[in-house]
Amino acid sequence: MGLQRFTSGTVRYQSHWNAIQLFRRISTSTVTCSDNKINIGGKEYEKDHMTNITPRILSHIGWNLHSRKYHPLCHIRQRIVNYMYDRFLNPRGNPLFSVFDSINPVVTVDQNFDSLLIPKDHISRKKSDNYYVNQNTLLRAHTSAHQTEFMKMGLDNFIVVGDVYRRDEIDSSHYPVFHQLEGVRLCTEKEVYGNHQDMKKYKLFENVERTAERQGVHHIEAVMYLEKDLKNCLAGLATHLFGKDVEYRWVDAYFPFTHPSWELEVKIEDAWIELLGCGIIEQEILANAAVNDKIGWAFGLGLERWAMKLYSIPDIRLFWSRDSGFLSQFQFEDPTTSVTYKVSLIDSFTHPKTKRTSHCYRIVYRHMERPLSQKEVNVIHKKIEELAAERFKVTIR
Ligand code: DAH
Repeated sequence: MGLQRFTSGTVRYQSHWNAIQLFRRISTSTVTCSDNKINIGGKEYEKDHMTNITPRILSHIGWNLHSRKYHPLCHIRQRIVNYMYDRFLNPRGNPLFSVFDSINPVVTVDQNFDSLLIPKDHISRKKSDNYYVNQNTLLRAHTSAHQTEFMKMGLDNFIVVGDVYRRDEIDSSHYPVFHQLEGVRLCTEKEVYGNHQDMKKYKLFENVERTAERQGVHHIEAVMYLEKDLKNCLAGLATHLFGKDVEYRWVDAYFPFTHPSWELEVKIEDAWIELLGCGIIEQEILANAAVNDKIGWAFGLGLERWAMKLYSIPDIRLFWSRDSGFLSQFQFEDPTTSVTYKVSLIDSFTHPKTKRTSHCYRIVYRHMERPLSQKEVNVIHKKIEELAAERFKVTIR
């Protein structure tokens, strides 16, 4: 992938799109398909036996919802990025992390899998789980696909935000396109032991046996430092967004590209929700990127999951909605504004004699993929009326 494809940029100061532009494609990716070729963003790909990408999926490329001013995914991304900016400063007081948010989602099999040490027969490579452009190329299934190229470029602290693609059944919490935010931090020996009294005693590396606690090449002190740095950062992020009293827990996990690995879960309405995966980067990945004097951590999270929980958004398909009833609820400048997604009250009237108050609400029913019949809507509407009457002790008129 050519470097010119990367658009870097801190996103704290965003350009001034206005709401009307909200749903114009911002990337130039034009997509066309013919019998034996697919053209994505001006680049042509030969189809082969692995090609399973559909025009419908291709039509999602280039919308960059995570960069649309006022889009809930943009608010969440901004809050996470600001948290990272504030937490990690260079000696001059500037943010340490660089943010990359418009990298082409078309990646090689090497980027998405091989560079991350994902075994050749790993289930995550299956044709049935991914959108392959052809046998060498696919739409990235995770933002981790870009880790190695940024390390090769010499970056030590970076965030990648982007759309990712996985073949999946569609329902209220699954959609074949969603958005991830990936963070990577690499540290030198000096950064790890900088304030340590006995710094000279410790190194980053030693040859030991690989155990559940560490890779075969890492010094345990260094791993313990990184684990603490990573967990404090991510638990801090969860409490920063979900409130300081949120209950959270660390669960041991497995990823081919990190060891040890963990998942962070938070308790929301009595259910444990997995928020992210993370771990200590496999040293082999750093070595392949010609980084030999550093160790690092990485994490990846799904923006939709965070936004749905934070804003009480009931259906993942709503993120693609162009309905102003949805989008207008997020039209604020300050991303820390709290929102609970709701239907809107359009009229209220108190009868002067009976003193009874009437509320009028408008609900727009829209199927995420096809037109809805009046009959279908009536069933749902009736259910809402019944529940409202029961729960709020109101009379439906
Ligand atoms: N790429 C993983 C996924 O999509 C998430 C992830 C896990 C990213 C651990 C990381 C990591 O960087 O260290 O499920």
